[in-house]
Amino acid sequence: MASNIAATGLSALILSAAFLLPAAAQAEGDPERGRKLAYTCMGCHGIENHKNAYPNYSVPRLGGQHAAYMMAALAEYESKARWHPTMRGLAATLSDQDKADIAAYFEGPAPVTSGGTPVGTMPAAGQACMACHGADGVGILPEYPTLAGQHEDYLRQALRDYRAGKRQNAIMNGFAATLTDADIRQLAAYFARQPGLYTPRLR
Ligand code: HEC
Ligand code: HEC
Repeated sequence: MASNIAATGLSALILSAAFLLPAAAQAEGDPERGRKLAYTCMGCHGIENHKNAYPNYSVPRLGGQHAAYMMAALAEYESKARWHPTMRGLAATLSDQDKADIAAYFEGPAPVTSGGTPVGTMPAAGQACMACHGADGVGILPEYPTLAGQHEDYLRQALRDYRAGKRQNAIMNGFAATLTDADIRQLAAYFARQPGLYTPRLR
């Protein structure tokens, strides 16, 4: 498509300004190209219950996750705002177009949408999360991650890493700072049991 060709040709020029542009102006991802690029990712993300070692926790589910959020996450590994060594190394090998294409592939035909009625009772600490992550953990904007259906131990790890400053994000460092260990356990359990994200399969 003409717009894609123009976007690819211009990407080097606008690279330095890319973070200043609103999400809507980002390159459209091509899921078919993303499917091929994602081959190396599936060795971890395509295996249900695959674990990260040291520390031990589940590799996050990416199926149905918001593409705009995944692009931002990959940029954060590349800029070292997130600590994970393998993901830092891999993200640094991907161009902005690669990131957009892979994210479009993992998002799938459509991102997870809210079912409307949450399962179980939101923990008290969750009142502070709803404005962005929804009552049932489905991110209300494409830039906000969906937590619904994510692995419980990964959610705990992410919240502890934000609280400890190991994972840097201006919004989440602030929210996680107020959480106790008990809050983190309850919030992770609540969001993990909502229907949502899935492990992508090579298709
Ligand atoms: C060796 C296993 C492994 C491989 C291969 C791998 N990942 Fe990951 N990925 C992980 C782990 C573990 C995490 C969680 C790291 C953390 O705690 O920050 C992660 C996190 C992510 C996240 C952030 C998810 C979120 O919810 O914030 C994205 C996006 C991602 N990976 C994309 C990819 C892509 C794209 C590839 C291929 C280019 C890839 N990964 C290859 C193990 C892997
Ligand atoms: C103002 C909006 C906002 C609020 C309120 C908010 N979050 Fe977030 N949350 C975000 C954004 C944006 C990110 C992505 C940050 C990043 O890139 O690391 C995020 C990331 C996360 C992640 C990591 C997801 C992943 O896939 O790695 C978890 C877990 C999380 N939030 C839980 C919470 C909890 C629990 C609360 C309430 C205590 C909360 N958030 C409140 C916006 C918000």
